[in-house]
Amino acid sequence: MSAFVTSTTPSHLYPAPQCRSPRMHVLREHLKRYAQTDSAVLIRGETGSGKEVAARQLHQLSPRCSGPFIAVNCGAIPADLVEAELFGTALGAFTGARKRRGWFELAHRGTLFLDEIGDLPLSAQTTLLRTLENGVIWPVGAEQAQHVDIRIVCATHRPVLEMVKERTFRQDLYHRISTLSVFVPPLRHRKEDMMSLAHAFFGERADELSPSIWRRIEAYDWPGNVREFRNVLTRAFIHASPGPVRLEHLTFSQLGERVDRDVSTRTKPLHEALAEHVGHTLRLCGGNVRATARALRVSPTTVYRYLATTTTAPHGEYTYSRDT
Ligand SMILES: Nc1ncnc2c1ncn2[C@@H]1O[C@H](COP(=O)(O)OP(=O)(O)O)[C@@H](O)[C@H]1O
Ligand SMILES: [Mg+2]
Repeated sequence: MSAFVTSTTPSHLYPAPQCRSPRMHVLREHLKRYAQTDSAVLIRGETGSGKEVAARQLHQLSPRCSGPFIAVNCGAIPADLVEAELFGTALGAFTGARKRRGWFELAHRGTLFLDEIGDLPLSAQTTLLRTLENGVIWPVGAEQAQHVDIRIVCATHRPVLEMVKERTFRQDLYHRISTLSVFVPPLRHRKEDMMSLAHAFFGERADELSPSIWRRIEAYDWPGNVREFRNVLTRAFIHASPGPVRLEHLTFSQLGERVDRDVSTRTKPLHEALAEHVGHTLRLCGGNVRATARALRVSPTTVYRYLATTTTAPHGEYTYSRDT
């Protein structure tokens, strides 16, 4: 087995993913739908948010679930080994070479999960793209191409679109791997999941956590997401044992801003912020669109346009009027 294959554990041996929050329900609905296709899926999200969990879920929900799920860490492979790792080697490909199966072949009839695809060296990106386009592999030194039947799922915590603009990630490969794409929200944006995660990880001991501990947990922003959450609580239970967990037992990593985060997940698009501002002003103006337009020094049409784009539409909260 290749050193870069991070896991071949059958997915059904993994604990069921916890997803109480509306955001995770939406994600699950998307995964269910996407699982019925063979299109490539790109999973984005911060480190520790559960991208691999989502990839396994996708595989489990798909008709390929009885086939292999091969997870590979693309960041860990030296560029000159990529070809042999991807496609394997034929017997006698070079002096002393044994026949060795590559990732594509290992994942035949299953799912190949290319984790941290943003870390794949540029030369390897070219090779990967060629293979994905052709659907056949050439093991190093082989005389014949081999057909493989795989579903590709990629994940990255990097802002790949930015990388495409900076030309550190091939645009054509980006399009090829992101036919479908999902985003795993950071833990701080789905606090409803914290309790069920704690129960999944620690069972009944999670019930012993006091309200003040929960307040602290919910106030923290969890840059390392679910992975950090589990570690912090594991540490807390060990230090507190045999007594109850107290605030001083919660020791956070304090990585804060130093964690390499996708900035786009930390901020909102400008049009959303503008729409919120319009909604807020509309509320101040008692739902009167003309007054809102005057306050914002724009036309009523502009106000309507923003109200139409906002996802947290204030429409339902009150009725607004056109008149002064
Ligand atoms: N929804 C979830 N339910 C249960 N465990 C989860 C969930 N999301 C993440 N985890 C756990 O958190 C850790 C990090 O998840 P992982 O999928 O490896 O994150 P990523 O690939 O985004 O870095 C793993 O131990 C995983 O089992
Ligand atoms: Mg991962």
